[in-house]
Amino acid sequence: MTAIAGTRNFADQVVLITGSSSGIGAATARAFAHAGATVVVNSVSSVEAGEALAAELPSASYLQGDVSDEAEAKALVASTVERHGRLDILVNNAGTTEVISHADLESASVEVWRRIFDVNVFGTWMVTVAAVEHLRASGRGQVLNVSSLAGERPTGSSIPYACSKAALSHMTRLLANTLGPDIRVNAVAPGLVDTPWTASWDVVREYVGNLAPLRRSATPEDVAEVLIGLARSEYVTGEVVLVDGGLALR
Ligand SMILES: NC(=O)c1ccc[n+]([C@@H]2O[C@H](COP(=O)([O-])OP(=O)(O)OC[C@H]3O[C@@H](n4cnc5c(N)ncnc54)[C@H](OP(=O)(O)O)[C@@H]3O)[C@@H](O)[C@H]2O)c1
Repeated sequence: MTAIAGTRNFADQVVLITGSSSGIGAATARAFAHAGATVVVNSVSSVEAGEALAAELPSASYLQGDVSDEAEAKALVASTVERHGRLDILVNNAGTTEVISHADLESASVEVWRRIFDVNVFGTWMVTVAAVEHLRASGRGQVLNVSSLAGERPTGSSIPYACSKAALSHMTRLLANTLGPDIRVNAVAPGLVDTPWTASWDVVREYVGNLAPLRRSATPEDVAEVLIGLARSEYVTGEVVLVDGGLALR
């Protein structure tokens, strides 16, 4: 963690991070906790991992919940406020995909589109809508979305996934426009990140390592660092920041 990320300027803030039992979400939970925040860790099935992470972080708690289920999405926000008294920052990180070659149109069935949009788009929307009144009450509320390079360029693990992230990036701009000045809304758009999600993607990792100006894939901490930076940047809203080692330049 860098010196700036070490400053404890989130000391009185509560941060809910969806999908934070591993990968980018877990690194973001650690980064916010390191900066003094009270963190709420969430996942659907990785309960043990989520509980273990929360136990490791000072004043953190764990909440199980599927963001794509409306009742659970609402309960996630309500339980956060019930336990910790407030909500200052919502990080919409929970996501899902299915790896399908873009040329294989038949495999990208409407069921696949629905499953991916249910989590990445509708889940994010439902948690965000439930959070808005609390983020307004915070007086410095903000939403941070974890989009993807696939939402900004014609690439990614499947066409439905890329379109879901394009929707999430645009949702970021639309909500920033609507919710200011009370609430800032920004997003990161990572390229390839080394997480359990991409553990078996060695061919892609090699491709990115050869092609990206920075010659490597990202660590989850690289992404967390930008999220924390956006959280600190009080005059930035509606931005989708690429965290891709320059890959989009190629
Ligand atoms: N890795 C990359 O290269 C990359 C690149 C660009 C963007 N991203 C985005 O980064 C985000 C995190 O990905 P990651 O690579 O860190 O993956 P990861 O390590 O597999 O973590 C995914 C997390 O999301 C949770 N999750 C999945 N569906 C959920 C749901 N319906 N409700 C609540 N939590 C749910 C998982 O919990 P369970 O285990 O309980 O399901 C897990 O905690 C995703 O939005 C992804 O699209 C990743």
